[in-house]
Amino acid sequence: MKRLEDKVAIITGAARGIGFSIAEKISEHGATSVIIDLDKKAVDTAVQQIDDIGNRAIGFTADVTNSEEIASIFKEIHKEFGKIDILINNAGITKDGLLMKMKESDWDAVINVNLKGTFICTQKVSRYMLKNRSGIIVNIASVIGLMGNAGQANYAASKGGIIALTKSSAKEFASRNIRVNAVAPGFIQTEMTDKLPQEIIDNYSAAIPLSRMGTATDVANLCVFLASDEAGYITGQTIQVDGGLIM
Ligand code: NAI
Repeated sequence: MKRLEDKVAIITGAARGIGFSIAEKISEHGATSVIIDLDKKAVDTAVQQIDDIGNRAIGFTADVTNSEEIASIFKEIHKEFGKIDILINNAGITKDGLLMKMKESDWDAVINVNLKGTFICTQKVSRYMLKNRSGIIVNIASVIGLMGNAGQANYAASKGGIIALTKSSAKEFASRNIRVNAVAPGFIQTEMTDKLPQEIIDNYSAAIPLSRMGTATDVANLCVFLASDEAGYITGQTIQVDGGLIM
């Protein structure tokens, strides 16, 4: 069943990892995925990969923290398609370190990309969704935003902020038929987690009731559901995809 036929979906940070899987799945369900990412070469490859299997994707190279750039790209997308149905705020970074020693620049960088980037893209897309009286926004948070983590104060604060932003925007936009939800992935295998030492990976995996790391597809499947009409009565929620890690 194609749940997103003819929809236009923007996915940020979608040149690789979880974002790419979301773009892939969304296209598989009949939508055009608009991939936005910093990495031009990876954007081209991602678009080509989706195109090669006969689904629809286009790409833009941009930084989610650059509000002018984002506004002009969204304007271009709207001009081309006449609407923007779905926004998935997925772009995110980590700059881990113990709070005592954390550089202010590492704090700022993570809050800027993860939290402010989500705000900017939400604000810039909202003018089109509000006018259209329809829209779906999914914010990629993290279980770390719910439970905190030693060595990730900046990341946890950014993801906790995203959860609060999700609730506020859900309340603000509900009367215009715009749903906003957050997805909180647990421990998912991507380039972000590949950087971690094996010992940490093993320790985490042992703490997961379903005893495995998640896949990007596990997260993408939930995003497709939240973006579909089947989730029509769900807004303001944070849904975990974490193999039972926190409950
Ligand atoms: P990744 O590092 O594999 O991919 C992130 C993508 O975002 C990259 O292509 C990067 O170029 C892009 N990006 C980074 N900064 C950007 C910016 N300023 N503007 C535009 N694009 C930018 O990361 P991964 O693992 O796929 O994570 C995706 C999202 O899922 C992030 O928000 C992350 O915090 C979240 N997440 C990941 C988990 C995991 O275990 N991998 C767990 C929980 C949440």
